[in-house]
Amino acid sequence: MSLNQDFWKKALTESYAAIEKLTGVFLVTQGKERKPNIMTIGWMQGGIIWGRPIISVLVRPSRFSYIHIEENPFFTVCVPTENMKKEINWCGSASGATVDKFKSTAFTPIYNENFSVPVIKECPIYFECRIVQKTKVIETNFIPEIIHEYYSSGDFHSVYYGEIVRVKI
Ligand SMILES: Cc1cc2nc3c(=O)[nH]c(=O)nc-3n(C[C@H](O)[C@H](O)[C@H](O)COP(=O)(O)O)c2cc1C
Repeated sequence: MSLNQDFWKKALTESYAAIEKLTGVFLVTQGKERKPNIMTIGWMQGGIIWGRPIISVLVRPSRFSYIHIEENPFFTVCVPTENMKKEINWCGSASGATVDKFKSTAFTPIYNENFSVPVIKECPIYFECRIVQKTKVIETNFIPEIIHEYYSSGDFHSVYYGEIVRVKI
């Protein structure tokens, strides 16, 4: 486990491959005095910004994960394996507001030292990120096609930029 450049770049490549093949990766968040929550995300980007290795994720305010990530500015991204298709669909449709997705998937939350959000033990590749910037996408800044396709009911994403502080691959 290290933040060696080769490691996080390789882990990013694996994340993109999982998104392409399996539709998504897992975003884990944990608000203050809450249980951790897992949500499937298809939109994540990675690279160097502000001289740091950064992963950005987009979360709609309607997600239960939104409350968590707003309360505690840290997240993990855990990369699923081929045999986790069921869990990807489940974590991308059920809400943590009504179910404990760690329990219902039988995934194991593991807390690393000095990090308040767990990783999923069953995922061999993961990132731990601390949010260094957040912003909201703005309706008037979009071209109309995107509004029409993605925001007909509002629910404009917030974008969270997380500095990668630990990676496992
Ligand atoms: C393949 C896939 C990708 C998704 N990507 C995102 C995403 O990038 N951002 C988002 O806000 N919701 C995304 N979703 C929807 C959430 O995963 C879904 O609404 C989930 O139930 C939210 O869980 P929560 O309410 O426990 O946070 C995706 C769903 C699927 C199936």
